[in-house]
Amino acid sequence: MGEESIDSGKRNFLKAMVVISAGAAVAGVLKGVVQNIIPPSSGLTSFPELTLFFNGNPLKYSDIPPNVTGGNIVLFDYPLQSDPNFLLNISNDNKTPAPVEPMSVFIPATGGTYESPGGVGPDNSVVAFSAICQHLGCVPPIIHYYAAGSPAFPTYIHCDCHGSTYDPSKGAKVITGPTTHPLPATILKYDAVTGNFKVVSMTGPTIYGKISDLTGGTPLPEGQTYTDVTVESIQG
Ligand code: FES
Repeated sequence: MGEESIDSGKRNFLKAMVVISAGAAVAGVLKGVVQNIIPPSSGLTSFPELTLFFNGNPLKYSDIPPNVTGGNIVLFDYPLQSDPNFLLNISNDNKTPAPVEPMSVFIPATGGTYESPGGVGPDNSVVAFSAICQHLGCVPPIIHYYAAGSPAFPTYIHCDCHGSTYDPSKGAKVITGPTTHPLPATILKYDAVTGNFKVVSMTGPTIYGKISDLTGGTPLPEGQTYTDVTVESIQG
């Protein structure tokens, strides 16, 4: 073997090493990019049953007067951390809680329906819904609700991003688009003996931006049996 062919072999070897190193670097960058775009799979295998807490104690009916307004919205995370939900005590006239009946809710995008639970609590007027807009995912305080001004002007949820509106007294059905999906319903349970409220499940469309309600986020710390209700200013 001549010197020329030895040099040629070395060059080829070096070229191969450069290609492998560059490939590894690109693969490393791509891995980071992919990890950022698609977070590691996390979540839950079933809906947890959690007691609603407010200011460190189980939430009571008196903590959620009808149509809490004054620039505030009442929220809690469920089923995972950073999955905000509205908590509302529906009223038709700004004073008297109004019972919410269970009902079939229409999904404009599919033409299908699903069963939304009725209200719970002493007046069957307390309801909860995902607070992530089903159009493009805007969150509170950009999506928020207005108190009823009169029987003819009931409480409604409005997203300032593009103007979608939802009716929380009718399963958060779509009033006006551009959204084509109602807000997912968050199922509550009321214990008349203790006066406590629990959140137990969800139904309806999947939370916006998720493959399933139970994935794509961080569960509450292991063993935690409650989720905190917070009050956020609409002015943000
Ligand atoms: S994100 Fe709410 S209307 Fe578009």
